[in-house]
Amino acid sequence: MRVAVLGGTGFVGGYIVEKLLEHGHEPVLLVRRGSEDRVAQPERCWLAPGDVGDDDAVRDALKDSDAVIYNIGIIREFPQDGVTFQALHVDGARHTMDIAEAEGVKRFLLMSANAVSADGTGYQRTKYMAEEALRATNLEWTVFRPSLIFGDPRGRSEFAKQLYRDVIRSPLPAPLFYEGLLPVNAGSFRMSPIHVQDLASVVVKSLTAADAVGRTYPLCGPRTVEWREIIRIIAGAAGLTKPMVPVPVWAVHVVATFFDQFAFFPVTRDQLAMLLQGNTCDSTEVFEAFGIEAPVAFDEDALQYVTL
Ligand SMILES: NC(=O)c1ccc[n+]([C@@H]2O[C@H](COP(=O)([O-])OP(=O)(O)OC[C@H]3O[C@@H](n4cnc5c(N)ncnc54)[C@H](OP(=O)(O)O)[C@@H]3O)[C@@H](O)[C@H]2O)c1
Repeated sequence: MRVAVLGGTGFVGGYIVEKLLEHGHEPVLLVRRGSEDRVAQPERCWLAPGDVGDDDAVRDALKDSDAVIYNIGIIREFPQDGVTFQALHVDGARHTMDIAEAEGVKRFLLMSANAVSADGTGYQRTKYMAEEALRATNLEWTVFRPSLIFGDPRGRSEFAKQLYRDVIRSPLPAPLFYEGLLPVNAGSFRMSPIHVQDLASVVVKSLTAADAVGRTYPLCGPRTVEWREIIRIIAGAAGLTKPMVPVPVWAVHVVATFFDQFAFFPVTRDQLAMLLQGNTCDSTEVFEAFGIEAPVAFDEDALQYVTL
């Protein structure tokens, strides 16, 4: 199958492209100027140069393809550079759907996220809008809703390695965020991170699974851990123990109000809000349906890459 991948040069996209090749598919990647060296196995992929805002480039990537995977997404906006949730999650996805319909590319896979909703943060709302736009088309769609995704980022950005670099290696204690006035339950919000290889397997296998059409898959790993445990596991993977200290969320909010438009500030208010909501789901049935017998758990063995 010839498969157009938009967002194929990022952390998750690289694994999807590899998995496509493993399964004998022919990936066609939309590649932005300056990202050419981020293509995994460029000698085995077709490349369509351009940005998602450029309809001709998207058309080039989609024409003659049998399917498209819309995997573009951002966690943080930089409106002064035109990098917004609206542009990349909604407008880019809608244009790609229109072009897919015009070019006769029937199969459309969309990378969304766990816990998206019409009244969530800007990230969650716009991901949800793209899902709804896709469901309203005549395309044969499948939506993926992953929790946090972990695995060797191979030069791109990934949360466990980022936490190792910014929090575990810092001389300051790790923050256990809490809401309200008292630090009861500080750092107890829960996550079920999914390994990037398992996610890529589900995405690629769903391309040829007839019963994946019209389905929305929640994608979480087999182990659910509290934030404090996440810190302990990442530190443990690096052979360290990390002191932790309760931090009231309002304090971070105050600082983020001033700084979250700057790339150097590590977390935005929305990211913090999503962290505190937790990020869990049960994907046992999805893994069974796709023959993934031993999905990778978030533990010290699987996190050895954080120090690399
Ligand atoms: N990582 C997670 O924990 C997580 C959790 C839930 C859902 N997701 C979703 O999974 C998807 C992949 O995430 P990721 O972590 O792999 O992100 P990533 O590493 O930042 O990759 C993002 C991809 O989108 C491309 N892109 C960004 N702006 C573009 C534009 N204007 N035109 C064309 N391409 C553009 C990037 O291209 P360049 O290489 O040129 O930058 C890259 O290929 C996203 O939809 C994200 O929302 C991620």
